[in-house]
This record gives sequence, structure tokens and C-alpha cells, in this order.
Amino acid sequence: MKSVKTNILVVDDSLETVELIKRNLESVGYHIYSASNVQSALKLLDTLNVSLVITDLKMPGENGMELVRHISENCKGTGTLVITGFPSIQGAVESIKIGAEEYLVKPFTDEELFKSVERVLAKTSKYKKEVAPVSPVNFGIIGNSEGMQHVFKTINKAKNTNATVLIHGESGTGKELVARALHYGSNAAAAPFVPVNCGGIPDSLLESELFGYVKGAFTGATETRAGFFQTADGGTIFLDEISNTSLAMQAKLLRVLQEKEFYMVGSKKPVKVNIRVVAATNVDLMQLVKKGLFREDLYYRLNIISIDLPPLRERDKDVMLLLDFFLNKYTRELGKGPIQFSKKALRSLNDYPWPGNVRELQNLVHRLLIMADEDTIDTPDLPENFRFSASRTQGLNRRLAEVEKEYIADVLAAHKNNISQAAQILGIDRKTLREKLKKAND
Ligand SMILES: Nc1ncnc2c1ncn2[C@@H]1O[C@H](COP(=O)(O)OP(=O)(O)OP(=O)(O)O)[C@@H](O)[C@H]1O
Ligand SMILES: [Mg+2]
Repeated sequence: MKSVKTNILVVDDSLETVELIKRNLESVGYHIYSASNVQSALKLLDTLNVSLVITDLKMPGENGMELVRHISENCKGTGTLVITGFPSIQGAVESIKIGAEEYLVKPFTDEELFKSVERVLAKTSKYKKEVAPVSPVNFGIIGNSEGMQHVFKTINKAKNTNATVLIHGESGTGKELVARALHYGSNAAAAPFVPVNCGGIPDSLLESELFGYVKGAFTGATETRAGFFQTADGGTIFLDEISNTSLAMQAKLLRVLQEKEFYMVGSKKPVKVNIRVVAATNVDLMQLVKKGLFREDLYYRLNIISIDLPPLRERDKDVMLLLDFFLNKYTRELGKGPIQFSKKALRSLNDYPWPGNVRELQNLVHRLLIMADEDTIDTPDLPENFRFSASRTQGLNRRLAEVEKEYIADVLAAHKNNISQAAQILGIDRKTLREKLKKAND
């Protein structure tokens, strides 16, 4: 792993002091930034990941105390070392009180400086562990894009809490993978992880599947059977496609979340469970709440922590990482020799919008490798929609107005000629849409 230099920001209006500290600390491998006043220091802190700020107390404009206080209240993981030319113990004590880790009195020796810096960094490094590692693989989830880094960070924070997590993302973005990561990355990894596809089970069945039933509860209930909630006790239940549950089922789920207990079908005795609930949806639940199709109280209960999985087309550079990952995986699994993509093929794959997200990419690589009988997969090996087609360019001779007219007509038809809805989809206001329609029909 590449070693990353520690960033230190030196804030002092005396150029000599800044130079002296800079030279000393750079010689032992730190990366030094400098600022001559508090305002410029704040700007740097906004954009840089700084582990330590070394600041003078007395400067023109705001003084160092204000900077120390700002850092202590806003910058987790950044330590402060105060240097002062005024050996008044009062100022030093004051700075420690408001959050500085240490102070150094000018003049100081190189040795004193190194020791103080090391001590402060050691004190604050405990916070750094919370920062997601920059490794492209976390919990078996490939990704290095900013969006995925954010996802990893949230998984790390959420995994050992009992808070409900709502995962939202288009189909194939990795929602189930994230749910598993939350469970298998947690202290309860040894307990069961129970996925339930709420969309695939009819309502009447879902209730007995989730809560179990007692013997005689209904025709065919010849014995008492535990439900998913009991099976998941101590672990995680993953309610996939939660948007597909009926309002009646939502009321029952809300009860379990609130009371941590439920009734088996046909029983009046409450069953207590200790489970973490993770839910997933590929539609915007808030929109369903607004339409009265999803209970608002359940929405807020589920959404204590939310994880939004970005679509693959918005994950800069991840396509290449994923291609590489699945290429290796399937080459190994299929027992094939080393196979690679040609540069041209890689370009086409990289430019493709991946409506089916990671699943589509994974399946494509799998299929291509099964079919591959040479060591290079080139553009002609890719499916048609990845390739340029001269016959398709006929469409490119059409005028914009023509394409627009057709598209508007399609959107209107899909929304039963509802102008408001169509305008919203098209991203224009109703008036503009009416004008366009009028013009098109003139
Ligand atoms: N970042 C990733 N790294 C590696 N594999 C991934 C990644 N994201 C998704 N996959 C793989 O892609 C496939 C689809 O992922 P998953 O089932 O988690 O998606 P989903 O969001 O639950 O989709 P759906 O909404 O259709 O249920 C799985 O085989 C999963 O292992
Ligand atoms: Mg899924």
C-alpha cells in the first residue's frame, strides 16, 4: 500500500518561524502547508485533510485561540499544537482548555518540536481509524469512487449500531451486498442474516413467512412454524423491496420496529426479538409516502440511517475496477488462460451508461468470457448496443424538432396525457410544454 504523507498546517504571521518549522518537519517526511493568518488557515482546512495544525496565538486579525476553538469544534481528527512567543502560562492553559493538545514556548529546539508533533499526532490518530481506507475493496464491494467511499464510511459507522438502515439504489447497484456487509462486518456476524424478498411473496403468505404461525392458525397449519423474524433473532433481517408491502403489512412491520415484538399468526402471545432491520428499495420511498402508498411513520422508522447507492454511470473510474475484478474472477472460475480486453473494447465499455448497473456489467463479463476463444476480447465481441452501427446512424439525420416532438408524444402517452406529469419528466414547466405542443401541431 502506498504510504501517504501526513499533512501539517503551520499558521504564523512570522515568516521565519514558518520557514524554520517547515524545513525541520519536511526533513522528517511530513507534508507542510502554511498560512499567515486565521482566515487563510480556515480556507486550507476546508479543502485539505490536515492531521495537525501548528499555530501561533498572537497574530493580526483573529488570534490563534479562535482557530484552536474552531478546529476543536469542527475538525475531527485534526490536532492542534500551539506555539507562543509569550511564555505566559495563562495563554497556554487557556488554549488547552478550549481544545489544543499541546503548547510549545518559543524559542524551542528541533527535538522539542519533533516530540510535540509526534505526541499530538499519536493522541489524535485514534480518530483517523474512522476514515474509510482508500482500498478499492471493502467488504467484498469493489469501488473507489467518491460515492462508494461515502457508502463504505456509512457502513463502517452503522455496522455495530442497532439502528435501522434503509438502502436505496437502482436495480443492480449492490443493495444486497451492502446489507450483507452491514451484517457480516458487525459484531453479530455469527448470528443469522435473513433476506426476505417482500416483493416476491403475496401479502397473506408474507405475514406467516415473517412472523410464523401456530398449529391450527389456518387450514394447512398442521404444526407451529417459526417465521423469518424468529430465525433472525440476534442477527439481521433484510427486508428487500420494502416498497412492495401493503399498507396493512406496513402497520405490522412498524409495530415490530417500535415494540421489538410481534404475534405469530393465530397467536395472541407476543414474541420478543432482538434484531437489526435493514431494508432496501429501488424506488424513492418518500414519493410513495406523498402518494399515500407508504406509511410516513414507517418511512422515518426505517430511515434512521440511509445509504444511497449511486448508479454505476455516476461512479467515476469504478467501471474499470469492476471489469478487472470480474475478469479475474471468471477467468479463474472458468479455468481459462489469461484474457484481456482490447483498448478499444475498454473504451466502449467505459462509455456505456450501464442501465442495469453492476449486475449488468458482471453478467456481461461472465458471458464474454464463456464465449471467448482468443486471449483478447475486442469490440466486435461486444453486444450490439456497445458498438457503433452505421445503420443506426440513419436516425442521426433527423432534425432535433422531429426527435423532440416524438419524445414529447411518447412521454405524454406514457402519462395518460397528463400535462403536469409529462412536464415534470421532461424537466420543463407546463407553459413551455403547451407552447411546444402548439408549435409541433401548427
Ligand atoms: N460494488 C460491487 N462490487 C462487486 N460486486 C458487486 C458490486 N455491486 C454489485 N455487485 C454484484 O452485482 C450483483 C447485483 O448486486 P445486488 O444483488 O446487491 O444488487 P441490488 O441493488 O440488490 O439489485 P436489485 O435491486 O435488482 O435487487 C451481485 O452479483 C453483486 O455481487
Ligand atoms: Mg437486491
